Amino acid sequence: MPVAIVTGASRGLGLATARALAGQGWSVAADARHGTQLRDALRGLPASRVVAVPGDVTDAGHRAALVAAARALGPIALLMNNASRLGPSPQPGLADYQEADLAAVYEVNVLAPVALTRLVISDLLGAGAGAGPDAGGAAGGTVVNVSSDAAVEAYGGWGGYGSSKAALDQVSAILGVEHPALRVYALDPGDMRTDMHQQAFPGEDISDRPEPATVVAGPPAAGPPGAGPPGAGLPGQWAGSGPVTAEAVRWS
Ligand SMILES: NC(=O)c1ccc[n+]([C@@H]2O[C@H](COP(=O)([O-])OP(=O)(O)OC[C@H]3O[C@@H](n4cnc5c(N)ncnc54)[C@H](OP(=O)(O)O)[C@@H]3O)[C@@H](O)[C@H]2O)c1
Repeated sequence: MPVAIVTGASRGLGLATARALAGQGWSVAADARHGTQLRDALRGLPASRVVAVPGDVTDAGHRAALVAAARALGPIALLMNNASRLGPSPQPGLADYQEADLAAVYEVNVLAPVALTRLVISDLLGAGAGAGPDAGGAAGGTVVNVSSDAAVEAYGGWGGYGSSKAALDQVSAILGVEHPALRVYALDPGDMRTDMHQQAFPGEDISDRPEPATVVAGPPAAGPPGAGPPGAGLPGQWAGSGPVTAEAVRWS
């Protein structure tokens, strides 16, 4: 069975995605910094196919361990760079943004995804036919870099996180051009009721935001090239049920 690496999978979008992938027959190597929370979150998923690898994506040794754990499960066909750092809460304006805080945001949101991609690019290029349970056999593997509308909208106070996601979008676009055999997605999941969202809006009631599981299960908001049939669900599309595209696309 194909293998996915999902970073930041102890809660929120990463956990919802790991659950969905496992339900579709994938094996999953999942990380998060807090091991107990990660293992608790993944309990109930098939232990032979879903492996918790606690660690920080900014740590090169951890990234190597994560990839090794994934390879032990089988051929890696999907990398989802989902773990992310908002920065200080409340978020400071750029003129007040401390350099160390900004560097920490970029390390998690840009440098770590690029480094992980470098580690698995040969695995993904070799994924080839049968890259997923529904694969048409036409493409290599898939990279999903989780982005945000803050990458393209100039929201005051979002200069650190937003600019890091803009950089990640460009990483996705260029990776897609450099490796036409891969599916490369810049995925904006939209607002979700998660810890990070609460951190972004401290003290606000965010109970009207959708749960991450609904984002994973639902159809894409728009129909970009390669989006596949509406209602297929995001992991299903990543497995290759849609037409091949080398373009980085945005789903909301
Ligand atoms: N929530 C929204 O409204 C929203 C909107 C647009 C885009 N997004 C994007 O969606 C993605 C998921 O966000 P979310 O809202 O689901 O966040 P979340 O609920 O706060 O979950 C973040 C996950 O990442 C892990 N993580 C954080 N830093 C890490 C690190 N350095 N190394 C490894 N794991 C790390 C966390 O576990 P530990 O704390 O244990 O490490 C947790 O499992 C992010 O890329 C975010 O930018 C979210």
